[in-house]
Amino acid sequence: MKVEDIKKIAIVGAGDMGHGIAEVAAMAGYKINLYDIKQEFVDKGMTKIKESLTKQVSKQKLTQEAMDKVVGNFTCFTVIKDAVKDVDFMVEAAPEILDLKQKIFKEIDQYAPKHAILASNTSNMSITKIGGATGRPDKVVGLHFFNPVAMMLLVEVIRGEKTSDETMNVTYDLMMKWKNFRGNMVPVRVEKDTAGFIYNRIGSPAGIYLMEVLQRKLVTPEVVDAKVRSIGAPMGPYETMDYTGLDINYHGMLYFAEVMSPDYKPRKWLEDMVKAGTLGKKTGKGLFEWPGGARPTIDPAKADPKFDPMDLICLQVNEGTKLLEGGVARSAAEIDLAMVNGGGGVFGPFALAKGMGWDKVAERCEKISKELGVKWFMPTETLKKGNIKI
Ligand SMILES: NC(=O)c1ccc[n+]([C@@H]2O[C@H](COP(=O)([O-])OP(=O)(O)OC[C@H]3O[C@@H](n4cnc5c(N)ncnc54)[C@H](O)[C@@H]3O)[C@@H](O)[C@H]2O)c1
Repeated sequence: MKVEDIKKIAIVGAGDMGHGIAEVAAMAGYKINLYDIKQEFVDKGMTKIKESLTKQVSKQKLTQEAMDKVVGNFTCFTVIKDAVKDVDFMVEAAPEILDLKQKIFKEIDQYAPKHAILASNTSNMSITKIGGATGRPDKVVGLHFFNPVAMMLLVEVIRGEKTSDETMNVTYDLMMKWKNFRGNMVPVRVEKDTAGFIYNRIGSPAGIYLMEVLQRKLVTPEVVDAKVRSIGAPMGPYETMDYTGLDINYHGMLYFAEVMSPDYKPRKWLEDMVKAGTLGKKTGKGLFEWPGGARPTIDPAKADPKFDPMDLICLQVNEGTKLLEGGVARSAAEIDLAMVNGGGGVFGPFALAKGMGWDKVAERCEKISKELGVKWFMPTETLKKGNIKI
C-alpha cells in the first residue's frame, strides 16, 4: 500500500486523544469514521471537535466554509464492525489497558479490509503484544500522539517486532501529510518497541528524580517549577505532572518499574495523592491548585537557586544514550527533534548538554545517582566515552 491509497480512516475511542486525532486527520481531508462504545461518548467527541474548530474560526485562522468541510468528513459509529469495514487505516485511542487493546485489535482485525493498517495510540504498551492479537502483525504499528493533538506536533511512529517496512513507511508518510493548528506534524521513527518509546522514555528518569527529591523534602513543586520557568520553559515539570494527571504518572511509573527497573517504583507521596483522588488539573487540585481548570499561579521569585535544571537534562542525555545503544532511536538529533516537538522547549537535551562536555555530563549523572541512591542514573558506556554525534 502507498500513502495515496489511504482515503478513509477509523478512529476508535473518541475521548481526549481520539477526538484530537480525528480532528487533525479530518483537517488533512480524510473521511473519518469516529467510533466509541456509546452514542454519548461519540457525541462528546464531536462536540469537542466542533468547539475546537469554532475557536479557530473566531480567531480567523479557519474559515467557516473550511470548518464545515472538516465536520462534513465525519461519520459516527457505535458498532465496531460498521466503523472499520471500509477503512484503509485505523487509529485506536481506547483506555490504556493491554487486555482491552488486544480485544479491540482482535475484533477490528476480523472486520477491517485486509490491506488496512491498524495503529495504536498507546502511551507505553507493547506494539508487538497488541499486534500479536491480530492475524496481521506486519500491519500493526504504534502511533503515539501528544496531548492536545490539535497543538502538539510530535508523533512517534513505532515499529513492533513484526511491523513491516512498508507499514512503517506508509504510516510515516501519512503523518507527513497531517497538519494541526501549530504546523506540520513531526513524525519520529521509533525502531524498536520499548517502554515509553522515545519521548516518555527520555522523560522517565526525570520522573524518578522528581518523585525522589519531593519524597526526601529536598524541594517543593513551586520552587522547582519557578526555576524551570525562569529559564524559558513554558511549563515546569511538576505542573506538567498535574496537567497530565497524577494517576497517569503513577500508572506509568508502575509500568516502568515492572519492565525496566524497581527505581521507577512510585514514591509514597504520589501513591497517597492518587489514592486521595487529588489528580491534578482534571480534579481541580493536585500538586497545585487548578481553579476552574486555569493554570496554577507560580511565583517566579520562589525559584530555588540550588535546584539546577541541568541535572534533569544530564539524566535525559544518559537515557538517550541507552536508546542509541539499543537501536531504538536512529540518532541523537532525532531524539532532540522528538523532545522539542513533544514538549515546549527550543532545544533538545543533547543540544543543551553538548557544551558541558560529555565527560562532565557523565560525572553529573554519577553524582546524582550516588546522592539519591538511584542506580538507574549511572552513566552508560556511550556517555562515558563521549561516543555521541550531534
Ligand atoms: N491523555 C494523554 O495525555 C495521552 C497522551 C498520549 C497517549 N494517550 C493514550 O491514548 C489512549 C486514550 O487515552 P485518552 O486520554 O484519550 O483516554 P480517554 O479516557 O479520554 O478516552 C478513551 C475513550 O475510549 C473509549 N472506550 C472505552 N472502551 C472502549 C472500547 N472497547 N473500544 C473503543 N473505545 C473505548 C472511552 O469511552 C473513551 O471515550 C490511551 O492509550 C492513552 O494512554 C493519552
